[in-house]
Amino acid sequence: MTKKDIHFSVEVYPSDETLSPEDITLLTAARGATKHAYAPYSKFLVGAVAILANGKMVAGTNQENAAYPVGICAERVLLSCIASQYPGVAVNTIAISYNNLHGESDHPISPCGICRQSLTEYEERVNQPIRIIMSGMKGEVYIVEKARQLLPLSFSASDFE
Ligand code: THU
Repeated sequence: MTKKDIHFSVEVYPSDETLSPEDITLLTAARGATKHAYAPYSKFLVGAVAILANGKMVAGTNQENAAYPVGICAERVLLSCIASQYPGVAVNTIAISYNNLHGESDHPISPCGICRQSLTEYEERVNQPIRIIMSGMKGEVYIVEKARQLLPLSFSASDFE
């Protein structure tokens, strides 16, 4: 038996003030996008905004439904929009933020497991990693260099080969 260590680093910034101007712009857009979330059931409004390799910015928000499982997370709404509007275009960076109407929005959230699977497959489709910036409306900011890091030992299309 051997043991395999799987390791990744997350950059932790005390606030948005030390981010690059490009990253602040994207995070500000994600915070603003939360206004367009449809989350009357959870009251947890999520915004995800991407900057693409072609320079376009695309936004997604969570869209809930009275039949709860029908609801879709902001990240997958975003990826669906990107793939439909700009097929084949790589995503450089995605910023994710949220507004929790029941409480504070002062710490980063990271994508749920289903979204991690979708993000990872998008990276493989276009053969480019997606940087992910995560933060609430204020407070710490986390940045990871690729979505794949969030889903170690993942199942992927290459398993079919
Ligand atoms: N949600 C997202 O949109 N993205 C995440 O990363 C976590 C959770 C949504 C799903 C649901 O509409 C609400 O937040 C509460 O879970």
